[in-house]
Amino acid sequence: MTTGDILLIERPINVRFRKDYKAVIILDQSKLPNHTEFIDLVTKEDMYQAILKLKVRGAPAIGICAAFCYAVYANLFFSEAFAEERLGKNPVCRELFLNELFTFKKYLASCRPTAVNLFWALERMEKALLAEVEELPKDCELTIDSASSIVNRLIGEACKIQYEDISMCKAISEYGLSLLKDGDGILTHCNAGPLATSHYGTALGPALLGHERGINIKVFADETRPLLQGARLTAYELHKAGVPVTLICDNMASIVMKNGWIQACMVGCDRIASNGDCANKIGSSGVAILAKHYNIPFYVMGPTSTIDFSCRSGDDIPIELRSGEEISEKYFSEPIAPSGINLYNPAFDIIDHELITAIITEKGIVRAPFDTGLLQ
Ligand code: MRU
Repeated sequence: MTTGDILLIERPINVRFRKDYKAVIILDQSKLPNHTEFIDLVTKEDMYQAILKLKVRGAPAIGICAAFCYAVYANLFFSEAFAEERLGKNPVCRELFLNELFTFKKYLASCRPTAVNLFWALERMEKALLAEVEELPKDCELTIDSASSIVNRLIGEACKIQYEDISMCKAISEYGLSLLKDGDGILTHCNAGPLATSHYGTALGPALLGHERGINIKVFADETRPLLQGARLTAYELHKAGVPVTLICDNMASIVMKNGWIQACMVGCDRIASNGDCANKIGSSGVAILAKHYNIPFYVMGPTSTIDFSCRSGDDIPIELRSGEEISEKYFSEPIAPSGINLYNPAFDIIDHELITAIITEKGIVRAPFDTGLLQ
């Protein structure tokens, strides 16, 4: 398929198209920091497994990746269909194609339940698809030319989602930085940096942007058990960028707060309910409770695409349950728990809105009452 000039900018490296648009190339986050490996997602199973196994992770990056996968899947469908139908002499049935994409969307949407950006991005892609199909001649058949315009539209929409994310992250970082001063220490949980988004990140954005401007922000990164996104990704990204970062175990947050080293907590989010309750990586609510105890402001940062007004409170947000093996074996040379022990491994928890000082989106800094503030 031809693509026009929409793909000339290639700055984000965590998610991108292969040149023939028949694969999504991702930086495999599960291998960091020891190995920088890029992998091609070609089949729908590759795509599903990459998100499920956190090869690509972080709410905005999951959404971006799903959008790229959607465009590639459509392109592959047409390439195969037209190849089979004797090099494009016969057209492809529109209903067949649409049904294939509806099924693919449902399949991909089922791989992780908490981050709303996944569903948001897939919805947006489907809307773009239907709008493009609407503009085509009304007969049941799709020609090579119609297929080409559909694929171009989808590639364009996916790129738009990614580039909008860059400016949203920049705006969030600016707002976050406005709340800090030179020399401040922040505590963060999990990874909400460029790897989890497209650029700057959300919760790591203020420290990265501050560093670019000569403002010194020191970051304390919770290791973030059990999948260690803090140790493997946050420490890696900040250290690489030259931002002072200190890695701590999750149970050390209290002591660094007590020592007076933390002037603000900044975390990302996977879904924001309309009352301001926020889902983020398991352990975030504990950090918020500690912050309240030590009178430290607690900021949740995420694009407005993370707000889900259909959830009235955190109770309506589905919490992903993951394999217990991630607690008992992963990252250890041998199992650390007795075999057969009960394991409970929720991937996220809900930060009660009463513990949140402000929610920072690309539109600004929202303080309580969140139900009205988030609507603006
Ligand atoms: O399970 P993960 O690694 O996808 O969880 C990620 C988080 O909890 C992040 O804080 C959140 O997605 C925001 S990323 C900007």
